Amino acid sequence: MNIKEVAKLAGVSTSTVSKVINGKDKDISEKTRVRVLEVVKESNYIPYLKFLEKENLKSCLIGLIIRKDHKEREAIVVGVESAANRHGYHLIVHYIDNTEEIMECVESMIQKKVSGIIIDSEEWFPLGKFEDMTVYLSQTRRFDERQKITFYYRLSEAGRLAAERLMESGHQKIACIIDKKDSSITDGYKFAMHSRNLQIKNTWIYEGESIEDIEKRGIPECLDENITAVICRSWEITYCLCKAADRNRKIVPHELSVIAIGDDLLLKVLGDGVTAVELPAEEVSVRAVECLMKMIQGETHVELAKELNPSILERGSIMEPVRDRQGEKIVVVGSMNLDITIEMSRIPIAGETQIVKSVRQFPGGKGGNQAVGVGKLGGQVYMIGCLGNDMDGKLIYDSLLENHVRTEGVAFDRSMATGKAYINLDKDGESTIAVYQGANRGLNIAHLNRFQHLIQNAKYCLLSLEISEEIAEYAVKCCKRCHTEVILKPSNIEYIKEELLECIDYLVPNEKELHAIVPGERTIEQKAECLRKKGVKNVIVTLGAKGCYVQNAEYSLYVPGIAFGAVDTTGGADSFISALAVYLSEGKELLPAIRFAVYASGISVTRYGAQQSLPDRKAVDVYEDEIYRK
Ligand code: RIB
Repeated sequence: MNIKEVAKLAGVSTSTVSKVINGKDKDISEKTRVRVLEVVKESNYIPYLKFLEKENLKSCLIGLIIRKDHKEREAIVVGVESAANRHGYHLIVHYIDNTEEIMECVESMIQKKVSGIIIDSEEWFPLGKFEDMTVYLSQTRRFDERQKITFYYRLSEAGRLAAERLMESGHQKIACIIDKKDSSITDGYKFAMHSRNLQIKNTWIYEGESIEDIEKRGIPECLDENITAVICRSWEITYCLCKAADRNRKIVPHELSVIAIGDDLLLKVLGDGVTAVELPAEEVSVRAVECLMKMIQGETHVELAKELNPSILERGSIMEPVRDRQGEKIVVVGSMNLDITIEMSRIPIAGETQIVKSVRQFPGGKGGNQAVGVGKLGGQVYMIGCLGNDMDGKLIYDSLLENHVRTEGVAFDRSMATGKAYINLDKDGESTIAVYQGANRGLNIAHLNRFQHLIQNAKYCLLSLEISEEIAEYAVKCCKRCHTEVILKPSNIEYIKEELLECIDYLVPNEKELHAIVPGERTIEQKAECLRKKGVKNVIVTLGAKGCYVQNAEYSLYVPGIAFGAVDTTGGADSFISALAVYLSEGKELLPAIRFAVYASGISVTRYGAQQSLPDRKAVDVYEDEIYRK
């Protein structure tokens, strides 16, 4: 409204309006003066502040001070303005770059006779009398407690909600790409991940300086990490991510799930729509205005601080990770070691010194190998075990993640180093192994109890004995209670309690292990029968290159091996067990499952290392015809 419009409405000339509002109105009739004043008041004509002061006219104005880079700026301005208008008030908005500008803005607003101010800031400002006419807005609970009245929602809560939503769908490799200024989102994301006992790689979090920085560096770095889901702050980041995913031929949501923090119209039309965490910015603003109005009217009973919660707006950009859609669940309870493989032409005998050809390190351990084996073959697998909180532990943890193993059941022990296996490997690929259990001994009953639901939800439990005997026993009993079938590798023991044997569905010893648990001169068949009489349902004796022998209630037969040249037999049996479990979990018969396992382990021994050597599904499926040939 300008002076001309005021004059027109009052039916007088602009000079008359000017005279009235400047107090030079001696020659103006009282009737005209009153009429001009009424129009000035009704139209909230602002520039004549001195005059308003003089006449004690109320401005009907409120002020809003908001950061220029506030991502929900538009929603807040719209919310404040429409709520203010409903009360017959108008809005003056000041956009600021940083909080240092706030005092200046407040002063200018006071000069314009605003009745109250809404300030977007976690900081408090000494506004004297005007403090009773000020409401703050915040995106965190960490605002200055001297603020009298604050309406807020928490970005950290939005980060937590987003991560929770993705984890509900089975994701655990989740990236979080945000603007540096919104780092409390990362706090919520970290909290959610750690509550599920999931580790976060540094490279999964990107706090960018600008959208250009995020597009050029943050997004490519995160996508390189083989993550299955991303949390994006803002539609701009989401848009850049979707473009990059498209270039990398990753289809959203089939190969990459996405959730945005903060909703926007664009998210509705991006792809088939992007699921978002909706921030209650508009609602917070409306509530702030309602409160401010009460304060202006002199009410003293107003809310002092009010949190409003973000919520999820589903649009279908989240799916289960591809891997989690196959077979019944498999849980592994066992050891994880760093394998130190010493390659030499012949394994030294007592008193002998040998020069070695090479020393290499690989992620290993029977439990870890079996879990990775299942993951590589496309099974749904959960690991329960314990690592040291050290570099070796991180290396093994990464290997699990890379190979689609669910890791919430993996603990990190602060007092013990990650387990180690010292492996002497000869020129024929045969090996001897000495294991230092280290953190594997840290796997305790409390931890198993905490993750009992993983055992309960699984169809098969793969168990090996490089963990403490007590824990192995406890796990077997737990499986029995939960009707989870046990597949046991009886390494490094000489005796299994009879009460445990009857809980074992598949016992998979090699020849030496069979002779250790059933000593004496009897044949493999007789020893297997002896174990079956004690309650083991299926005995499968692995015989290296010769294949294996299987005995159960239906049959007793040998399955021939595959003549692949072995270079390193480490992990061959783990490969066999994981392949067996994967086929069984897909509802396949035992004999094809055993043949599938023979091929998988046959392939693994042609490669060096344990987890590295385990084949993926494609490598074994090549032999499908042979596997099903009777
Ligand atoms: O079964 C092979 C495994 O046994 C190796 O990876 C080593 O860690 C030992 O546990």
